[in-house]
Amino acid sequence: MTLYDLVAPGLDVHSEPRYRIAEIRAADPLGADVLLAALPAMNDAADTAALTVALRALVPGPDRVAGLGVVDALAAMRDLGMLLGSLKRHGVQPLAVAPEALPVLQELGRRTDMVPRDTVHHYTTWNPVGARQRMYTGDAMEASLQDAVRMVFPSLVASLDTCAEVARLEPYDPGFALALDRTAQHVQSMVDSIDFTVANVSPVFFAQEMRFYFEEIAIAGRDYLGPAAAQVPLWLVDLTLWQCDRGNERYDAFLDESVEYSLPSWRAYHAAHRGSVSAVSKLSAAVSWEAVDRLPAALAASAHALARVLRVLKTFRARHMTIARKAYSEEVRLYDVGSGGAPVELLRSVLDLTRDNETLVRQSVERRSTPAA
Ligand code: HEM
Repeated sequence: MTLYDLVAPGLDVHSEPRYRIAEIRAADPLGADVLLAALPAMNDAADTAALTVALRALVPGPDRVAGLGVVDALAAMRDLGMLLGSLKRHGVQPLAVAPEALPVLQELGRRTDMVPRDTVHHYTTWNPVGARQRMYTGDAMEASLQDAVRMVFPSLVASLDTCAEVARLEPYDPGFALALDRTAQHVQSMVDSIDFTVANVSPVFFAQEMRFYFEEIAIAGRDYLGPAAAQVPLWLVDLTLWQCDRGNERYDAFLDESVEYSLPSWRAYHAAHRGSVSAVSKLSAAVSWEAVDRLPAALAASAHALARVLRVLKTFRARHMTIARKAYSEEVRLYDVGSGGAPVELLRSVLDLTRDNETLVRQSVERRSTPAA
């Protein structure tokens, strides 16, 4: 039994190869296990010559790439990605020293229907654990950072289904509150993840050791961001609850950029739901139409459930901002923006939006007498 079966039993791992986590982790299509075990030592020595030789040794020929299925192509991208990020960390644009990697990255991107470089999912969820774990530094804090992201992937994937239900239903339907409650359970993993990060990863370690490895690299004339926790699809939940019609320019622009780094089905969800009516807007409209003082039980339950899930999001964001502020404080930081391409001020603005929406929902029912939640 895998983590997936435990956390997200409804996931159809057979029709979506990107959810076949155990298989992707086990795959070593480029025979990279031995070479990548030496990566922390190469990085420690800033040995760009060895890193270049390693990248060139791993890049497969066109025939080999053409024969890779999605599972192997994801694993191949993961392994090449470790060398891309390492070279860039030491100031070398990887494709300048290994130009033969360009068509390979482009083909792997096409075969997996993802960007032509590795993402946070390659670096964490699809990365083996134990002796074969791919790491830049080998430090226990790096392993914890990877675990922190690993632990949210299954629940955020599961939230796609519950969010789709929220989007389909109206707040008068008892299923609306149920779907929101299930979403809240999934989003709780983000709170657990940030608590785990705060307990196990020092902001100084992140800022002064890890951040370098997540730099953007140039591919065919454009920059692609490195693996960033900001790419985990919490935005799927925001989109459904409030962002699709109650966002702000700054967060909308950040999401438009982040979505590209996600899986095809999540991008499809984003395309289908952007510009639609959010749960908060549906709820507010329904409450304002009720002339009577006492709200119908199902509507009141929906309002309470919506406020609860927004509160969980707010808790994650408040704790996350505390650690992000420390890592990007003037005394500590070596970069002005996060690996996802945005400054800490973005986090303040998204926290404010989350809080404003929670307050709106809470106040809309507080003004009425409602059956107990
Ligand atoms: C030392 C640890 C961390 C630091 C310093 C940090 C810092 C940041 C920064 C500066 C941003 C702004 C966007 C950008 O990346 O460019 C951001 C965004 C984000 N980060 Fe982190 N982060 C950390 C850990 C995590 C973890 C463990 C998670 C969850 C698995 C996470 C999830 C997110 C999400 C979802 C966003 C998008 C904005 C939002 O939804 O509020 N971060 N982070």
